[in-house]
Amino acid sequence: MTGATGNVGSEVVAALVAAGEPVRALVRRPDAPLPDGVEPVVGDLNDPASFADALAGVGGLFLMPGYDRAEELLGRARDAGVRRVVLLSGGSAALEDLDNAVSRYTTSGSSSRPCPWRASTRPPPTRDSSGSRAGPPRRPPIVDAVTSIQERLYPNLPCFGCGHANPDGLRLRSYPAQDGLVTATFTPWPAHDNGLGFLNGGIICTVLDCHSAAAVMLEAEQRGWEPLGDAALSYVTAGLDVRYLRPSPLTEPVELRAVVSASSEAQMTVDVSLVWDGKTRAEATALWKRWRPRVAPGG
Ligand SMILES: NC(=O)c1ccc[n+]([C@@H]2O[C@H](COP(=O)([O-])OP(=O)(O)OC[C@H]3O[C@@H](n4cnc5c(N)ncnc54)[C@H](OP(=O)(O)O)[C@@H]3O)[C@@H](O)[C@H]2O)c1
Repeated sequence: MTGATGNVGSEVVAALVAAGEPVRALVRRPDAPLPDGVEPVVGDLNDPASFADALAGVGGLFLMPGYDRAEELLGRARDAGVRRVVLLSGGSAALEDLDNAVSRYTTSGSSSRPCPWRASTRPPPTRDSSGSRAGPPRRPPIVDAVTSIQERLYPNLPCFGCGHANPDGLRLRSYPAQDGLVTATFTPWPAHDNGLGFLNGGIICTVLDCHSAAAVMLEAEQRGWEPLGDAALSYVTAGLDVRYLRPSPLTEPVELRAVVSASSEAQMTVDVSLVWDGKTRAEATALWKRWRPRVAPGG
């Protein structure tokens, strides 16, 4: 166990002790507080050699992220016969900052030394597309199932639908799924009533629009189509053709699904839908165009 005295590690240690598992904990101070029965090993994560001997006999390693020489440590663990490593992730994994060991380990697709525990970085399968696929190939997807696309790519956006800097907004959270699908769960508020006890059509438009944004910004990121100038977003909605098919519930969480069906740097088309109870309640075709920042009037 690394980080055994910390918030996360102490909980894992407590669970292992409760389960009757033998625990050896890496600590930086010999007097570090540990539960009875846990074996302390003094060392430093930034110096894998300082606790190399303690890896003998270890079956599983719970590893803190973000320390120097992570690959060296993992190599030592492998050589010592450690069969399983749980690498705690962190927000840095989403940053693609390859100076950071966690980010490098969880996002890089190549290594000078193959590592048996490396997370898969296989690119998503190519989708059929009616539109142009011109542009650079996609980068490997970022391995991040915890941080939403909105919070990772535009955390300071004040948009009503998807801006996490808008305390009065809907603050959608969308996540990449399989085969280019982007999903989200949206729980309506009582104030979103359409007057008949169902979800208001304007709110449906908002969530379809903003959820399609997540698919577009993810595609743009993978293509390297970064925001221009100091714009927060690289694309802006140019059209939203909405079809209301069935009433959408007001009191139940609904699912949002989006797939980019055509993309070029100039524009993208997204098929987006709102689903509840296995049935599509509303669907839309969203057209997004590359956002080129305008000079403000008088500016
Ligand atoms: N993926 C997620 O959802 C998630 C959630 C929370 C946290 N995290 C990440 O997980 C990590 C731990 O979070 P936490 O809240 O448990 O942190 P924490 O309470 O600050 O605990 C950090 C632990 O790491 C140990 N440590 C620090 N530097 C070390 C070093 N050089 N060598 C060996 N041990 C060292 C500390 O030991 P000492 O007692 O010696 O200081 C402590 O036990 C952080 O990197 C955080 O970003 C990820």
